Amino acid sequence: MATTDRTQQDAQKLSAARAAVKFVKDGDVVGLGTGSTTTFAIKELGKRVKEGLQIKAAASSIRTQELAESLGIEILDLGRLSQLDISIDGADEFTDSLDLIKGGGGALFREKIIASLSKNAIIIADASKKVKKLGAFTVPVEVIPLAYQYVFDQMHKLGGKGILRTVAGQTFITDNGNLIIDADFGLIDDPAKLSADLNQINGLLAHGLFINITSKVIMSDGEDIIIFE
Ligand code: A5P
Repeated sequence: MATTDRTQQDAQKLSAARAAVKFVKDGDVVGLGTGSTTTFAIKELGKRVKEGLQIKAAASSIRTQELAESLGIEILDLGRLSQLDISIDGADEFTDSLDLIKGGGGALFREKIIASLSKNAIIIADASKKVKKLGAFTVPVEVIPLAYQYVFDQMHKLGGKGILRTVAGQTFITDNGNLIIDADFGLIDDPAKLSADLNQINGLLAHGLFINITSKVIMSDGEDIIIFE
């Protein structure tokens, strides 16, 4: 991507993040996603905390936890929470019916728990993330290592061409000690059906299709903030 495109995309991410952070109020317990877009939101929240905003948060990844704590945001144990007032996260793709692909950063399992716990699950995005149909971006799937080949083969039967995720030549390991398979299902006609089919596979911890879980998507196109809900 050219530097100008990246700068424009970052400006859109920042605008969407600023719009989302306005929904956070004193006393909220806030779920924090992972990724470059969410990083803008966490930094904006950090500024508001320095100005006196009283919040607590739960993090979807170790890197989000470290960033939030470095900005003075108190992090609670996600596993002990029954509800979050609000959550802010990014997405790799979204449609106007609020179906998402997430997990490009490999944090999809904890992100899904956070979105499920959240009364107001907000996704923030630049305009490049909006698609008519999901599937140009591969669907990340978190797999328990001993079930790797089984899950890989079951996904193949569903039409998904999988690749084990590596980073710099090394197998990518999630914060939960698991593997990621990035699966290409082509453009997905029925994301809800594929999500349900994937949920049936033993050993598949979580997949990156987020269906009926998002309250709103806040997108910036560089000029306007557009809210899908
Ligand atoms: C992290 O696992 C992902 O779900 C991210 O939210 C998603 O990949 C979007 O990341 P960016 O904001 O970096 O594009």
